[in-house]
Amino acid sequence: MSTSAQLGDRSLFPDLAARSYLAHCAISPVSLPVREAVIAYVDSYARLGVVALGRWLDQRAVLRGALATLIGAGADDIALVSNTTTGVIDIAFAIAWRPGDRVVIFEGEFPANVTPWQQAAATFGLTLARLPLTGFGLPGEGDPGDGLLRLEACLREGARLVAVSAVQFQTGLAMPIPAIAALCRRYDAELFVDAIQGAGVVPIDVSCGVDYLTCGSHKWLLGIEGSAFLYVAPHRVGALVPRLGGWLSHEDPVGFLFGTSPLRYDRALRARADVFEGGAANGAGLAALGAAVELLARLGIPAVHAHVQRWHDAVEPGLLARGFTSLRSPHPGGRSGILALRAPADIDVQGLVRGLASRGVIVSAPENNLRIAPSWPNALSEVPVVLAAIDEARSAATAR
Ligand SMILES: Cc1ncc(COP(=O)(O)O)c(C=O)c1O
Repeated sequence: MSTSAQLGDRSLFPDLAARSYLAHCAISPVSLPVREAVIAYVDSYARLGVVALGRWLDQRAVLRGALATLIGAGADDIALVSNTTTGVIDIAFAIAWRPGDRVVIFEGEFPANVTPWQQAAATFGLTLARLPLTGFGLPGEGDPGDGLLRLEACLREGARLVAVSAVQFQTGLAMPIPAIAALCRRYDAELFVDAIQGAGVVPIDVSCGVDYLTCGSHKWLLGIEGSAFLYVAPHRVGALVPRLGGWLSHEDPVGFLFGTSPLRYDRALRARADVFEGGAANGAGLAALGAAVELLARLGIPAVHAHVQRWHDAVEPGLLARGFTSLRSPHPGGRSGILALRAPADIDVQGLVRGLASRGVIVSAPENNLRIAPSWPNALSEVPVVLAAIDEARSAATAR
């Protein structure tokens, strides 16, 4: 089996049924190396039981390093967690809040980056400020600096933390994270980033001043559901109160199992990102993530991003000619893996999604924004297939 990934080549996905799979912003398909990693994990436990554990602990150490490289962090700043949401919850419940602290969130964010802040607000007496997402670079909204000005006004009033997605799930807008980070630094606020719609397709570098970042596996990283990672900036970790820590969060948590240290309940919690690894991990999911990230590392995220932009460039004119309105940012820095479009008024968008699926084209459409989300395996030769499928699905719907 070849394990080499190449842009525009889906030979590592031999069983993928779709003619064009354009839903990487929902759940990505599983490549052969990812499949084999899961099988290797399960097989090793089938043969060895607990004796297999050491190999997978080593794999997780390598994985932390690979994920750190992906986002410009250090391996010690990465925790392996269950999903994006867990990463948000971990931080929302670990900050040493003062009653009345203000948290800035955004209208239209995916709920994973809202609910935990609401829960933390109710628990710790915080105030949530909800800013609109306008003025950050969507077409027809003028200067992308307008949103930053609004954010700055909120920070000037003393907001403690800003929580934002690297890429907005509905519109595909890549948020200006370095500019937001600079503002947060200027006003001494903390920055939390949900990176699941960005990492793997949009270059991300936490060294611009991101304090916390969480990202699940099953979208642009091309892993499987139920595994994720959380980054915590080293200068923030000491101030956290890991209220949701578990038995593996302590210093020397397993010595008592191997006779190297006695059982105690008073060991300190680690002052490191992996304090959030509180119990047994989803080993199969993390094995999958390891294989997936290895493929991405070989391709390089800037190359994946450029490939996906070529794909969007190729399909967008055909969609405009068919009456769709593109939400793609006119600013190159605002572009991501998602090309979102509003459909002409006569189209039932969810009907179109189903019509396309029955023709082998898989897309998604939250709140009726049609999302075309290819990644590195998608070939440019799929573009005419997609446009023809749209025409067929529309004619079939009109004939009904
Ligand atoms: C921006 C964003 N955050 C989070 C999630 C999902 O979070 P989780 O990994 O916790 O299911 C999604 C999509 O499912 C998303 O689009």
